[in-house]
Amino acid sequence: MTTGTNHFPTPIFQHDVPGFEALNERLYGLAKRLQAEDPNGVRRSNYGGWHSAETVDIRELLEFAELKQVIMNEAAFVSAGMGFEGLGLVLSKPWFVVSPAGAMNARHCHPRSFLSGAYYVKVPPGSSPLCFHDPRPVKLHATPASPQFKTTPYTTESLNCQIREGLLVLFPAWLDHSVPPHQAEGERVVLSFNLAAV
Ligand SMILES: [Fe+2]
Repeated sequence: MTTGTNHFPTPIFQHDVPGFEALNERLYGLAKRLQAEDPNGVRRSNYGGWHSAETVDIRELLEFAELKQVIMNEAAFVSAGMGFEGLGLVLSKPWFVVSPAGAMNARHCHPRSFLSGAYYVKVPPGSSPLCFHDPRPVKLHATPASPQFKTTPYTTESLNCQIREGLLVLFPAWLDHSVPPHQAEGERVVLSFNLAAV
């Protein structure tokens, strides 16, 4: 008899926020207001898109209050599920990324945080997914080039998380991710954030 077990999992949590339409309308209005006030934004992992500056503390804004509660509740829930029951979590300053056609985000992770997350405000049909990358680069040194190669959780090097409006995604801050060039005509609007453990 042969037995196999899986270890060292990499969790990616998804939560659809009920009644997101009104929330997203407020957040979209906020994103566009901040973009109008600071059209240049800042450059981080974004290429071609607008990224809000850290000078604005979105945590303090009324439009964000409802989502902040959802994020903190979900973060506590998933942390407990990972074995960190009752962990103290502090939300860092969130930021918006507004991506027109052709914009992308290079592969990166978020050092010095525990969890990272993204909440989707505008997702026109055909929007780019959120792409996660296998955090085990050592695997690349010994992956056989088999003609019978199949894409399975054991062989894949990346995972496309299909996004939709109202979706909240939480993942370990150390997990590399990227956004391929946005192909849709309308803008893709996401609010991202980090949570530190205290
Ligand atoms: Fe990121």
